[in-house]
Amino acid sequence: MDSLKCDLLNCFDFIVNTRRAIRKFHPTDYDPEAVTRSLARAHLAPSSSNMQLWEFYRVNTPDKMKELSRYCMGQNTTETAREMVVVVVRPDLWRNRARSNYEFVKTNLGDRPAFKGRSALTYYGKLMPILYNNDPFGIRGGIKMLVAWFIGLRRPMVRQVNRTDMRIVAHKSAALAAQTFMLSMVAEGHDTCPVEGFDSKRLKKLLNLPSRAEINMVITCGKRIPEGIYGPRFRVPLEEVVFTV
Ligand SMILES: Cc1cc2nc3c(=O)[nH]c(=O)nc-3n(C[C@H](O)[C@H](O)[C@H](O)COP(=O)(O)O)c2cc1C
Repeated sequence: MDSLKCDLLNCFDFIVNTRRAIRKFHPTDYDPEAVTRSLARAHLAPSSSNMQLWEFYRVNTPDKMKELSRYCMGQNTTETAREMVVVVVRPDLWRNRARSNYEFVKTNLGDRPAFKGRSALTYYGKLMPILYNNDPFGIRGGIKMLVAWFIGLRRPMVRQVNRTDMRIVAHKSAALAAQTFMLSMVAEGHDTCPVEGFDSKRLKKLLNLPSRAEINMVITCGKRIPEGIYGPRFRVPLEEVVFTV
């Protein structure tokens, strides 16, 4: 068991240390199945309330890749990528996801309380609609923030309850899936680069997305060439970002 643990840690360290933002990819060496498998792993990433308000779009035909690269400002990483995955958040799908979770819990757990102090069915049937059902003018969000503020005077209370807060919630979960995907690509012997320098309006049109969908990030895929790494890795000292309180 100890030697297995050591192997696992060595593998994990290798994957984390090997992952770099790659700006130039090999022109031919590439296995698209690595993306297929990595997306299946990304799909297992955690998401807030298990709502899975994400979608992944594979862009791999020459004409669409050219257009996508143009919308990413023609960056080196998008110009040389062999494929690109666009991670999209879909806060508008909250009803569908809450219903899927509700049905899953009902089928698999009955109405047994699965969360502390509140049944899972109430969670998906009542709480999710309260959190996610927001109007574009922010009226419901404002009321919820006020209610949260009042409740928060007497006890700890979640205060991130308006429309923007729920968009951020969806983006956080999508970014975790994106990181799972990128680490998996390294395990597959491939490389990636996350990209947020893009024209979201044009990109949404290219993918035929509805107005409430948002682009989380574009991930370029391929295998690195030596010039694909722009320099040694830089991080501020660990002591500047890790605190014990
Ligand atoms: C959300 C996000 C957006 C990024 N956008 C871009 C981008 O548009 N273009 C690019 O070349 N790199 C982009 N990067 C890569 C970062 O510059 C890179 O991760 C950082 O410099 C650290 O280098 P490393 O990933 O090799 O450790 C992005 C990274 C993240 C996490």
